[in-house]
Amino acid sequence: MTIQNDLLLRKLAREQTSRPPIWFMRQAGRYLPDYQVLKAKYDFFTRVQTPELVAEITNMPVYQIGVDAAILFSDILVIPQGLGMEVQMVPGKGPVLPNPIASAADVDKLSLEACAEFLTYATPCIQATLDDLNGRVPLIGFCGSPWTLLCYMVEGSGSKNFAKAKAFCLNHPEASAKLLDVVTEACIAFLKQQVAAGVSVVQVFDSWGGILSPDHYAKWSLPYIARINAALKEEVFTILYAKDGWFALKDFAALNPSAIGLTWTMNREVAEAQCGSDMVFQGKLDPSILHSSPAEVKRETLALIKEFEGLHHIVNLGHGIHPNIPVDHVRAFVDTVKSYSF
Ligand code: CP3
Repeated sequence: MTIQNDLLLRKLAREQTSRPPIWFMRQAGRYLPDYQVLKAKYDFFTRVQTPELVAEITNMPVYQIGVDAAILFSDILVIPQGLGMEVQMVPGKGPVLPNPIASAADVDKLSLEACAEFLTYATPCIQATLDDLNGRVPLIGFCGSPWTLLCYMVEGSGSKNFAKAKAFCLNHPEASAKLLDVVTEACIAFLKQQVAAGVSVVQVFDSWGGILSPDHYAKWSLPYIARINAALKEEVFTILYAKDGWFALKDFAALNPSAIGLTWTMNREVAEAQCGSDMVFQGKLDPSILHSSPAEVKRETLALIKEFEGLHHIVNLGHGIHPNIPVDHVRAFVDTVKSYSF
């Protein structure tokens, strides 16, 4: 199907466009009142596994806010779930995995076959979403990075420093390498499934990449992201994002992904020096700015566009939108970009 608004795809192909494209991380759900209605009615994984609900939630920001791309409503933790771990979404606490991985024997129990079988639900969900989108904008698929998934699988929940996850990698080098390997294979298979179902772009979220030292990053995160990127980049646009992983920028660029996501703790100078002037950069408004006023959001958004003028740039936040942002502040962000012209 031809895509009517293909601004994001043209930018990822490094073409000149009349304005930057815009979408933002965690745009599906959270701050939208209509999402809260569905959240009150259906539990998290029902929302993720039901085609009509996925289509409605994924496309809500396209219809209501006017972003240039949709991102599939799902979660990075569906992979640990598919590999055989129990995952609960506890209101007010976030994800909980009640039986985290603690030994090599726990790693041996994970099953790639079970994962592929479990995740078959995603194909009709993607198809329903694409049917409803009817070619308006491209659909982005995603997965978590193997390191970020290991963090949750070993820690059993979110954490400030993921010390348990690091300790597992330090004390069980073979089991942790095997865990990262299995998760990498699961990510590749799931992203290929998403591409076969019709997504045009995939993003790898290394949300906890930035808590690693550069040396540990080179061991526990980068090689696995490299494998995922290499397995997908011939068939789909790939975006690599490591929150606060300034030290990963140069290595990401060497993998030649379609784009690299930036955090607000980085700037153009660093990004361009590490990745060169031909790379496509995505980001990086501080999500906290959306707590200010629409006028301030507009000013900051224009400053961001100016910062990256002359480079390939996709406007986005530097991390996910906070849940309690007023919708008119989000509109100020999106409308500022959409009314801009180079
Ligand atoms: O962009 C989108 O909105 C698409 C859907 C999406 C969700 N999670 C839905 C969700 C995406 C892309 C994710 C990715 C995700 N999930 C990441 C990587 C991005 C990032 O923010 O760093 C991570 C680390 C997770 C793990 C996770 N899932 C956490 C920490 C939480 C709880 C806190 C929260 O709200 O983010 C979740 C639950 C979750 N995943 C919710 C949503 C909309 C909130 C629960 C709900 O609405 O019922």
